[in-house]
Amino acid sequence: MTVLAALGGAPVRTSPYPAWPQFDDQERTGLLRVLDSRDWWSSQGVEVAAWEDEWARYTNAAGAVAATNGTHTLEVALLALGVGSGDEVIVTDWSFFATIAAILTVGAVPVIADVVLETGCIDPDEVRAAITSRTRAIMVVHVAGSVADMDALTAIAEEHDLRILEDCAHAHGSMWRDQHVGTLGDAGSFSFQASKLMTAGEGGAIISRHADVLERMREYVNCGRHPGTWYYRHFNLGSNARMTEWQGAVLRAQLERFPHQQLTRSANADFLNAELATIPGVVPQGRDARCTAQGNYCYVVRIDESEFGADRDRVRTALLAEGIPLTTSYPPLHALDLFADPQGLAPRIRDRSAYPDYASASFPVTDRLASTTLWFTTAVLMGSRKDAQDVVDALAKLKSHSAELRDVVPVEY
Ligand SMILES: Cc1ncc(COP(=O)(O)O)c(C=O)c1O
Repeated sequence: MTVLAALGGAPVRTSPYPAWPQFDDQERTGLLRVLDSRDWWSSQGVEVAAWEDEWARYTNAAGAVAATNGTHTLEVALLALGVGSGDEVIVTDWSFFATIAAILTVGAVPVIADVVLETGCIDPDEVRAAITSRTRAIMVVHVAGSVADMDALTAIAEEHDLRILEDCAHAHGSMWRDQHVGTLGDAGSFSFQASKLMTAGEGGAIISRHADVLERMREYVNCGRHPGTWYYRHFNLGSNARMTEWQGAVLRAQLERFPHQQLTRSANADFLNAELATIPGVVPQGRDARCTAQGNYCYVVRIDESEFGADRDRVRTALLAEGIPLTTSYPPLHALDLFADPQGLAPRIRDRSAYPDYASASFPVTDRLASTTLWFTTAVLMGSRKDAQDVVDALAKLKSHSAELRDVVPVEY
């Protein structure tokens, strides 16, 4: 008779999953190359420029602009798309803080829309319902690499003359009809922060299929300078969001390894999709048939409490005890603390009268996903079939002990 590890039994797994991030001598050599060159600054070095070309080639974009991180890239992309003071941007409710913060930072007004239950991506019907005469753009997030319905969103954008910014922080390697995310809308933003599928600790890149948008993004990351003009001429209110040569060198090495890692991840994700769907109450994240590749930033499942026999937080605690690394969902954007606090947007925004009352809003699908999903970290997809099987075995074990899960005390976040 097995006993849940959370109640003193033996865990399904005692060995760690593959360490993340992965690196080898390619990163080491790249870092030493930068050190020895004394060109540590991208304005003088060659690494960031080479990395931009390589990333543009990989994504089949017209070009790429490297930046400090995936928050600044969103701000820069919005500015380059002409979004600013007073404009409305329709944004998904299920994302990380940066997605909505970037809109507020450029002086625009976020208008939140709910998501589709199966994928967790923005619901085109909700987008349509949120359009006003002030709407300028739609901000899409491809959650855990599952691509939003870009056909429907593009049709809406064309009909209403709106720009689409794809936040691809979760979706390196994701394709829609064999086209890399970030090239489907007007601009695509990537993060290379430590948990992402390619990383330099921090880092960002923006791609676009439009040459003029790329040109403006390049200016906004570099203090409003125009290439080829005197260094102390600043033509617009950009900022310094330049990537360092260290990051460029590391990301070049990370990109070389990425396609191979992507094969491992996809094979393990396909295996989990098939196996976990057989456990009552475990619902793997859906993926549209037009999403022809999914770069799983993480692997997401929804726990249906009535079928599984336990709520998400108890399942999470019990899985951690079984040796399975995971996190849970972000809170919905509308429920972030900064919207509940009257001073949460100050001093950037003191007069909140032009903004919706986010904290009182209700977005039922996002609320449901945020309280019922488990996010397995990339590490569980980066190992052997046995490593993935342990996730299945752990969830199957919990399911067969669902009555005892009531005695598990959820660990704090
Ligand atoms: C969906 C999403 N957008 C944007 C970001 C911001 O990226 P960064 O941490 O590089 O600023 C993140 C980071 O976690 C993210 O998950």
